[in-house]
Amino acid sequence: MPFIDRDFINDLPNRVDIVGLINKRVPLKKAGKDYKACCPFHEEKTPSFTVVPTKQIYHCFGCGESGGIIDFIMKFDHLAFVEAIETVAGESGVSVVYDQTAKPVDSRFKRFNKLMSEVSDFYQSQLKNSAAKKKVVDYAKKRGISGSIAKRFELGFAPPGWTNLYDDFKRSDENVHDLEVMGLLVAKKDKESDYYDRFRDRLMFPIHNTKGNVIGFGGRVLSDKDNPKYLNSPETPLFSKSKELYGLYHCRKYSRRIDYILVVEGYMDVIALHQQGITSVVATLGTATTPAHLQVLSRSAETIVFCFDGDKAGRDAAWKALKTSLPAITAGLLIKFLILPNGEDPDTLIKRESVKSFSKRINDAQTLSSFLFDHIKAKVPFNTIEGKTLFLEKTAELINLVTYPTYRQQLVEGVAQEVGQKIDQVEKALAQNPPNERQVSEENLSWSDQSFQKKIIPSSVSSMKSLMSRMISCVINYPSIVNETESSSVIEERARRLPNSDVLVELIRYSQVETDLSKDALLMPYKSKPRIFSRLEELSVLEPFLSEYEAKEEFSYTLTAAEKFHERKSTKASISEAKTYEEQKVVMENIMKGKSNSNSSKKT
Ligand code: UTP
Ligand code: MN
Repeated sequence: MPFIDRDFINDLPNRVDIVGLINKRVPLKKAGKDYKACCPFHEEKTPSFTVVPTKQIYHCFGCGESGGIIDFIMKFDHLAFVEAIETVAGESGVSVVYDQTAKPVDSRFKRFNKLMSEVSDFYQSQLKNSAAKKKVVDYAKKRGISGSIAKRFELGFAPPGWTNLYDDFKRSDENVHDLEVMGLLVAKKDKESDYYDRFRDRLMFPIHNTKGNVIGFGGRVLSDKDNPKYLNSPETPLFSKSKELYGLYHCRKYSRRIDYILVVEGYMDVIALHQQGITSVVATLGTATTPAHLQVLSRSAETIVFCFDGDKAGRDAAWKALKTSLPAITAGLLIKFLILPNGEDPDTLIKRESVKSFSKRINDAQTLSSFLFDHIKAKVPFNTIEGKTLFLEKTAELINLVTYPTYRQQLVEGVAQEVGQKIDQVEKALAQNPPNERQVSEENLSWSDQSFQKKIIPSSVSSMKSLMSRMISCVINYPSIVNETESSSVIEERARRLPNSDVLVELIRYSQVETDLSKDALLMPYKSKPRIFSRLEELSVLEPFLSEYEAKEEFSYTLTAAEKFHERKSTKASISEAKTYEEQKVVMENIMKGKSNSNSSKKT
């Protein structure tokens, strides 16, 4: 990924026409010097979405969304920061200036990406040209997959036989080696430099990352006699199934507006729903939902609907997803559950009932709290006093996993209502079911005079403290990333503007001074501060493990996320104090002024 020149980024909003760019997406009406429309980010009947061309900003007085053109495009087009910059520049006829001093990323990745795309082309061409294509075409027909949907998802065919892929790519030793790293060729035992294809006689589903690159494959047998039913790429430098979601690229590409994301279990579910026009859908890749999945999902939509089969396995999986979700809930994130009738999955159900009925199911999905209460109620004799006590204990354990105070409070109130007790009685039960020791000991830790968030979920979505922890983890593991991500003084300055960032700023500075610092050397200066030292040691375990390349991306993303989080918090606070439209406008303008002045350093 090339890095874009920082000055170019800063200057871009001044060189483009915010009204024109937004108007292409949301028709604007002139109102005095400004422009207005109904807000595209929340439902409303009277326009409170305002674009102020003189300040190059937009703001919605209904929902508080605000920012410059890049923020708007990121949010409206569902794009990452760099993609948004490229879009804005592209649509404005400005050419992007890339940072020539940034070191190129690991050159292997460029090669891998190209190769994976060639492999995907190979499988797609086999769907048209293989001598055995009839069976796969018949299979696709039997499953009701339309030609256009097969094309949209770039479905392919790994023909029967052991060496079709190998034979097509073996001209180059580098290809063969890379295909082995990608898990597509398997070396024969005892016979070095002899390989066979991992995927044989299967319908192939390429898996894309959010940029649209093919990073792995899933393959389904064509006959129910064969097994395993699905085979997936193994973990590779490009692909990690605990992080990737099948269909996310297509969800962003084909959904005009993402009100929710439906999380289903299978490849075929995603495809069948797309075919019926339900495009905000992704599937996990044969694993339970992980914290990393939740993080990606919460970046893409404010409502996540987990959809599971109504059988025992489906319910168990839903319960697991609930437990993973609790620590990840933050302001503005809504998590819901949709349990389908026993024996149905979205693929079978959407074929049996209308899109309207299926959409209604999505709409009516159960809230997390209601699902939680129902699930526990079903496990205890709720109508007895003992049952209610058990209910209280069991819910307390789960509520203690929630780190977001407002939501925790809502759950406590919900429990109190369910069992007909006072809120402080529920609080007492919570105190008797404390989170496990590790979490407690972390709670006592202080960091810049603030207690650290419990580290239940390694990269919890948007708490500043967890974002800070994540950046620190990345830097400790790969000090070099601060020199490569962009100009390191810019990074340092950006970090400095975040609240309580002293330690991060120090680490960035140490990392700049010495390029090849070991972890131990980097932490050396903290030896005399045992609390910080032990916290840093904990953070030096990168969970989930990331390659240097991934850590670089993660750091850069997290820094931007932290800036946005910080900015949003202060914006919302000042705006909620302003009563009239005029007051709000003044506040907003001051905020924007403050932003451009904040280059003059703000000491933390
Ligand atoms: P399911 O077994 O629920 O199948 O697997 P499905 O999605 O309904 O598949 P169809 O309709 O029979 O084609 C759900 C997901 O679990 C993973 C795959 O990702 C699959 O989409 N899985 C399943 C595997 O990884 N391996 C398997 O053998 C089976
Ligand atoms: Mn199915």
